[in-house]
Amino acid sequence: MKWFLKTSALAVIAASAVQADENANLVVNGEIEITTRAEAPAHIDGLSEVLSGWLFRSSETQALQMDDFENPGMIFVDEAIEAFNTVEGTESNSCASCHENPESLAGARATHPKWNDEAEEVRTMAMQINACRTEQMGAEPWGYDKADMLNMEALMASVSRGLPINVAIDGPVEATYALGEELYYTRTGQLDLSCASCHEQNYGNYIRADHLSQGQINGFPTYRLKNAKLNGVHSRFKGCIRDTRAETYDVGSDEFVALELYLAARGNGLSVEGPSVRN
Ligand code: HEC
Ligand code: HEC
Repeated sequence: MKWFLKTSALAVIAASAVQADENANLVVNGEIEITTRAEAPAHIDGLSEVLSGWLFRSSETQALQMDDFENPGMIFVDEAIEAFNTVEGTESNSCASCHENPESLAGARATHPKWNDEAEEVRTMAMQINACRTEQMGAEPWGYDKADMLNMEALMASVSRGLPINVAIDGPVEATYALGEELYYTRTGQLDLSCASCHEQNYGNYIRADHLSQGQINGFPTYRLKNAKLNGVHSRFKGCIRDTRAETYDVGSDEFVALELYLAARGNGLSVEGPSVRN
C-alpha cells in the first residue's frame, strides 16, 4: 500500500460510482435467513446501524455465500466434521465423546468471546476449542489461526448460522471490553489511523477498488478469494494494522482477544454467517 504514504491517508478514500448491491438479502440454501443489517447496539455510539461485510461485496462474491455447494469455505467444514469424530490424545476422546454432534454446539459461536468462570479468563472460540483439546482430550493444542483450528471454527460457525450474535459486555468482561474499545479508537502508525477511521467513519466509501465495510466479524472465519483459504479474525486484524504501517500484536494475544470481544459486541444483533466469503 505504498500509494498510501504519498497521499494524505484518507484523501484517497472516495465515494465511487460502482456500487455493490447493498440492498440484497442473504438467505443461505434458500432456508437460513441471515440478518445482515440491524439497529446498532445501545453501547455503540458511533453507528446507528450495523451492517454485515457481505453487503459490501460484489454480487458475484455475495452469491457464493448463498449456497453451500458454491461456498468454498464449506469444504473446510466437511474436514472439521471428520476431525470432530476423530479420537485423539491421552484420554481417547473425540469431540463427539462429549458433544454428541456439531449441531449440539449451535449457539456457542454467537456468544464467544465469553467469560469462563473456572479458568477466570475471557475465551474466544479458538481458546475454548483448545481448552477442550488439552484438558478434556489430553491432545496437543491447535495453532491459533492455523488450518485445523480455522476448520473447526468454521464448523462451529456453520451450525450457528442465522442466530444473532449476543456477546456479553458487562460483569467480569468489562475491563476486556474497555481495552478492546480503546484499541479500536486509538490512532497508530505512520498513517495515524484507527480502526474507526476506516470502518466507522468511511464505510461505504472505496479505498481504491475495495469497498469499505464496517469491519464486522460475524462472518468469521472467512474464506478469502484473495488467498483461497479460511482466514481467522486475528490474522485479519494483523493485516489491517500492517496496512496502516503500525506495529501489530500477535494472534492470540490479550490485546487481540480484547479487540475481538469488543468487535463481536459491536455486531450484536447481526447473524452468525461463517464461513463467509470475502475478497
Ligand atoms: C471430555 C469431554 C469433552 C471433550 C472431549 C470436548 N469437550 Fe468441548 N466442552 C466440554 C465441557 C465440559 C464444556 C463446558 C465448558 C467449559 O469448559 O467450561 C465444553 C465446552 C465447549 C464449547 C463451548 C460451548 C458453549 O456453549 O459455550 C465448545 C465450542 C466446545 N466445547 C467444542 C469442543 C470441540 C470442538 C471439541 C473437540 C476438539 C471438544 N469440545 C471436546 C467437554 C468436552
Ligand atoms: C486504511 C483503512 C483501514 C483501517 C485503518 C483498518 N481497516 Fe479493516 N479493512 C480495510 C479494508 C479495505 C478491508 C476490506 C474491505 C472491507 O471488508 O471493509 C478491511 C476489512 C476488515 C475486516 C473484515 C470484514 C469482513 O466482513 O470480513 C475486519 C474484521 C477488519 N477490517 C477489522 C479492522 C480492525 C479491527 C482495524 C483496526 C485494528 C482495522 N480493520 C483497520 C481497511 C482498513
